[in-house]
Amino acid sequence: IVPFGLLLVFGLAGCNSNETVTNVGKLEFQQALKIPELLEPTIESDGTKHFSLTMEPGTTEFFPGEITDTWGINGSYLGPTIRVSRGDKVSFDVVNKLGETSTLHWHGMMLPPAMDGGPHQMIEAGETWSPHWTIDQPSATTWYHPHLHGKTAQHVYRGLAGMFIIDDEDSKKLPSNYGVDDIPLIVQDKLFTSDGQLSEDDDTPYGMLGDEILVNGTYDPFLKVTASQVRFRLLNGSNARAYNFGFTDGRSFQLVANDAGLLNEPVTLERFMLSPGERAEIVVAFEPEEETILRSYSSGAGITNGEFDLLKIVADSELTGSSPISKQLSSIEPIEVPADAKVRQFKLTMENEINDKLMDMYRIDEVVPAGTKEIWEIHNFGSEHNFHIHDAAFRVLDINDKEPPEYARGRKDTVFIPHGASVRIAVEFGNYTDLNYPLMYHCHLLKHEDEGMMDQFLLVEPGTESQVPTELRDDG
Ligand code: C2O
Ligand code: CU
Ligand code: CU
Repeated sequence: IVPFGLLLVFGLAGCNSNETVTNVGKLEFQQALKIPELLEPTIESDGTKHFSLTMEPGTTEFFPGEITDTWGINGSYLGPTIRVSRGDKVSFDVVNKLGETSTLHWHGMMLPPAMDGGPHQMIEAGETWSPHWTIDQPSATTWYHPHLHGKTAQHVYRGLAGMFIIDDEDSKKLPSNYGVDDIPLIVQDKLFTSDGQLSEDDDTPYGMLGDEILVNGTYDPFLKVTASQVRFRLLNGSNARAYNFGFTDGRSFQLVANDAGLLNEPVTLERFMLSPGERAEIVVAFEPEEETILRSYSSGAGITNGEFDLLKIVADSELTGSSPISKQLSSIEPIEVPADAKVRQFKLTMENEINDKLMDMYRIDEVVPAGTKEIWEIHNFGSEHNFHIHDAAFRVLDINDKEPPEYARGRKDTVFIPHGASVRIAVEFGNYTDLNYPLMYHCHLLKHEDEGMMDQFLLVEPGTESQVPTELRDDG
């Protein structure tokens, strides 16, 4: 017989969702942070940079002596970093050795819709997909991950994701020595079973919320820095969890880029939040022998709950200097829409639908004239979500009629939509047309996306919107 008092205590502990999940005090920062390798392209006769990516199962030693089954790209967990410059022609061979269908989507890329790698560009087991395009967008930290409808959460969670960096003249003025003063940080929460396997138990209203953190697939990580200014490229590669980043010594740092490119001017911050799929670039100054911990601070319930140590950073006794960060980072004008811009309304519902509909692969929900700018208004009547648009960049105009937080005012492609909020964004769409391959907009909480919180739009020749069919053929 269990005493009633004890039952009450356990009962409460088990269901108290306001309790902060934490790993603080648990880590020892014993493993050197892994830096995903930079993928070397082969150069084709017309100058195209050609990259080979193989999606494959493998095993990874996250915990010393313990072997975990994982998936990876050109390796056992995560994928290599791709780095190219604006104007480059790129091509890929994406080989699927997973033993099941997947896709590979270029999140944040402006490109012909057929190359986007969304749910329609399936790569069957054993097959190779070979997209190619010209990089035509400002410098940015983008990323790639599978997007098979209904399976995205599982495929990303098992380890399929990587960083895709685009450089331009402006971005090269910032610290750019990869792995030295330009460091990728892919942050993911995980749930492990008692025998060290990845648990796929994602039975929360948001999907997977883990209690352990991997950074670049490293558990318990530390990083030694050797430069007095280090640029970190943070990617929230988690299925559902949001992070509210800061340093334990309270230091400030400069935010230099949002998802889709550099800010016009750096912003000095102590905290900023990234929901799943979002990226930010920050520059942090170090003095010799300093130590600090990058931490995520709890900022609410649900996906913003949790306090996690992410990475211990130790500065070397001698640091190489670099010139101060310029006051003008980018001269690209903030996205402005014309006064008569089209306004579209999107309602996120209690049932995790968009405009009362679930995803249908054969339905076109919106038809957008290519290369134009529009205002999209997203009204959230449900729980916490976020919103991502393919082949587009946007600026957040307001959240509940108020200016967005300082850390979310630059070029973006994914935005956090708090519970009950109305968010207006000024969207600039890619200048590509395709009547056969729809693009996606969706919640980037991957379980929501898989369950259908996703719609499709076509980019079409301006003026032809009304002639476009709103259904795709079954073989489309
Ligand atoms: Cu990061 Cu539609 O995806
Ligand atoms: Cu995307
Ligand atoms: Cu959602």
